[in-house]
Amino acid sequence: MLIERAYVDLPEGAGAAEESWPWTVPCVRQLVEEGLAFRAPVTFLVGENGSGKSTLAEALAEGFGLDSYGGSAGYKYASSREVSPLGGRMRFDPTREGRAMVRAPRVRRRGFFLRAETALEALSGERATQRISRHPDEMSHGEGFLLAFRERFAQRGLYVLDEPEAALSFSSCLELVALMDDLGKSGAQVVCATHSPLLTALPGAEIVEVGEHGMRSVEWAELGLVDHWRRYLSDPRAYLRHVLAP
Ligand SMILES: Nc1ncnc2c1ncn2[C@@H]1O[C@H](COP(=O)(O)OP(=O)(O)OP(=O)(O)O)[C@@H](O)[C@H]1O
Ligand SMILES: [Mg+2]
Repeated sequence: MLIERAYVDLPEGAGAAEESWPWTVPCVRQLVEEGLAFRAPVTFLVGENGSGKSTLAEALAEGFGLDSYGGSAGYKYASSREVSPLGGRMRFDPTREGRAMVRAPRVRRRGFFLRAETALEALSGERATQRISRHPDEMSHGEGFLLAFRERFAQRGLYVLDEPEAALSFSSCLELVALMDDLGKSGAQVVCATHSPLLTALPGAEIVEVGEHGMRSVEWAELGLVDHWRRYLSDPRAYLRHVLAP
């Protein structure tokens, strides 16, 4: 584990006064006011659509120096896109083991940012720099993701994943859980935004629920998404009768 806490470095009085995105998103407000403590090597961000998971994930990735287009730290940015105002102000309190990397210049930091919207472009970039062994065009959507996870999730670093389950089958998600667990145990750190009851069940992982309330730590068994899936699978009609025309 590399980072104990993330926080936003704002000049006195700034930020809270900002009335525009991303400062108005409740989880960002809380991040500005209190920071976000990490209690385990693997942290999941869960919450409704639009709650702020991607905003948070992206800021963490950018702040750490992972390419905001999706992809690796430690090589030049794939784009000239500027770092967002929030990402540019993210700071990290390292763990003892993380000090050397967190305090190193950006190019010496390691990790990977899987940004949902641009994941395939990022994988092409990884191929272009020989970081993965096959080109994503030669593989299915899910195969490309899995290959990148298998081949790139090796180094100690920060891995920020935004809904990695989107392309993956049940058994591939299980493989991803195992890869995340290995990363965490090997001294790396994972932050993963997800809607998946399967991924979030990883024992020992911390789950942060993002929403109108800001951010709070929750247990897997208490998650709304787990309860909904459990009830849906045992009786889909109980849900569908509310949404399907008679
Ligand atoms: N570039 C942007 N400019 C303005 N508002 C934005 C921008 N990106 C996101 N938002 C808004 O910020 C809020 C949080 O969005 P975000 O993408 O972080 O949600 P999310 O939790 O990742 O949702 P999902 O589960 O759908 O991926 C939403 O209200 C969204 O409309
Ligand atoms: Mg999102």
